[in-house]
Amino acid sequence: MARVLSGIQPTGDIHLGNYLGAVRGWVDDQHAQDAYFCVVDLHALTLPRDPAELRAKTLETTLLLVAAGLDPDVCTLFVQSHVHEHPELSWILESVASMGELRRMTQFKEKAKEGEESARVALFTYPVLQAADILLYDAEQVPVGEDQRQHLELCRDIALRFNHRYGETFVVPDAVLPKVGARIMDLQRPAAKMSKSADSPQGTVLVLDEPAVIERKFKRAVTDAGTDVTFDPVGQPGVANLLQILGAATGRQPAEVAVGYDQYGPLKADTAEAVIELLRPVRERYADLAADPEAVRSTLRQGAQKAEAIAAVTLARARAAIGLLSRS
Ligand code: TRP
Repeated sequence: MARVLSGIQPTGDIHLGNYLGAVRGWVDDQHAQDAYFCVVDLHALTLPRDPAELRAKTLETTLLLVAAGLDPDVCTLFVQSHVHEHPELSWILESVASMGELRRMTQFKEKAKEGEESARVALFTYPVLQAADILLYDAEQVPVGEDQRQHLELCRDIALRFNHRYGETFVVPDAVLPKVGARIMDLQRPAAKMSKSADSPQGTVLVLDEPAVIERKFKRAVTDAGTDVTFDPVGQPGVANLLQILGAATGRQPAEVAVGYDQYGPLKADTAEAVIELLRPVRERYADLAADPEAVRSTLRQGAQKAEAIAAVTLARARAAIGLLSRS
């Protein structure tokens, strides 16, 4: 069984794009893999957050992952800041990473909108902490979206450089990009990826949206000029997105889905229906879990213990390799 690790930020409500592109794949994989999933609250500190909200979202994100089907008896689910080895290894890796390679990260450039001067140092070193998340668990595979490819390359470079300089210490991981539903677009602006930092709330379908809300969002989805229903992401991005979503929700290819339609109305209605049915059990389980958050918190304590047992061994290896004197 390959060791797999992925992370998700507790910064907003999980949407359909996260669900189809990432979370559902994790749920499928957990039985076939030795899987670790981490709610990366330390990464959330790289941008301004309200403390009470961060705390609440960390628990909500965990509840949602369990509601979506991650089974804490099968995989290891934990909160990043519960395992102090993450920031500790990150510091060691910062001594291996260079300013130049971090400056090349496109996500830093995008997120440091107001300029480097006022950007948090943690936003700059964000990818190094992410490398620590991965390397601590000897993860071989990291299922991530396309937008994380560059961070994964950096993680590999850091691991290889460390191993070269200080001797074999880390497993060098591979990124695994999702097969289906990797690019679910905003329903209002089909040129942009569906996103939780949405200034387009009507274009983002949340996993916990009520059925009536989901129906309305699909009804108002932007379609394209013309009346044909064909799968043409360049010429008809709005329609293509609906076909992609309906396909992903029903286990078919978008082009194959298109064959059944010659009007936009029924396509929107059927897509809404399929998404409502897909998300219904998740929303119901979430309500049950939210009624007893203590149960999930206890799961998180167990997850952190399991994670820490592995992380501590890797950290000790890295500390020894780089020349830190052990306490004992
Ligand atoms: N940076 C990732 C994202 O924004 C989240 C993340 C943090 C992550 N640590 C990770 C993903 C480790 C995979 C592995 O999506």
